[in-house]
Amino acid sequence: MAKVISQDIGAFYHHYPKVAVIVTAHAQGKDNAMAVAWHTSISSTPPLYGVVISPKRFTYQLIAGSKEFGVNFLPFDAAELVAAVGGSKGQEVDKFQRFNIARDKSLKTAVPILEADYAAYECQLVDDRSYGDHRLLVGEIVAVHWRKDVFASGEILDLDKIYPILYMGKEIYATTSKDTARTLDRKVYGRR
Ligand SMILES: Cc1cc2nc3c(=O)[nH]c(=O)nc-3n(C[C@H](O)[C@H](O)[C@H](O)COP(=O)(O)O)c2cc1C
Repeated sequence: MAKVISQDIGAFYHHYPKVAVIVTAHAQGKDNAMAVAWHTSISSTPPLYGVVISPKRFTYQLIAGSKEFGVNFLPFDAAELVAAVGGSKGQEVDKFQRFNIARDKSLKTAVPILEADYAAYECQLVDDRSYGDHRLLVGEIVAVHWRKDVFASGEILDLDKIYPILYMGKEIYATTSKDTARTLDRKVYGRR
């Protein structure tokens, strides 16, 4: 099948799906939450996590003020909540009240951690840099919350128990199926 090659980049969604998360922040006595698809681990030692956020977002203002943020990983049945916090502005509405979001206690920061999470990182901001129309915020993970019952051997998410939220771009969300998981030993495959 012929591939299209173009220099007209436009809005590029070719690298999706991305796991959609909710980034949380707290400053000036306010909690806020927004949907984020652009995020990544950056370093193991020290443990660094990056989120890419437009400076137009209210969440950005809170993080710039408090130097802290939370990254919340939720099961697929919370996809509507992702769309809700991604479709509303913290400047106009208290999202925690409007969407009835329950909180867990945070350990090392003041950021809200969502009760519905299967995992969450509390991060302290170590860098905030502008790239084009977004900013890359890098945080050191200072506490990890995770549900012991859904991480097989303490590390790998059990896809029988949690369906992650895969964001396809635009308004489309999907998830995974355990049937598609394969164990491919890199030592074995690297020698073939
Ligand atoms: C699934 C999804 C993913 C999103 N990913 C990002 C992102 O990675 N970075 C970003 O700046 N905005 C992203 N947004 C947009 C923000 O979530 C949205 O503008 C939100 O209203 C910001 O809220 P705030 O102004 O209260 O901070 C995303 C929205 C959705 C629905």
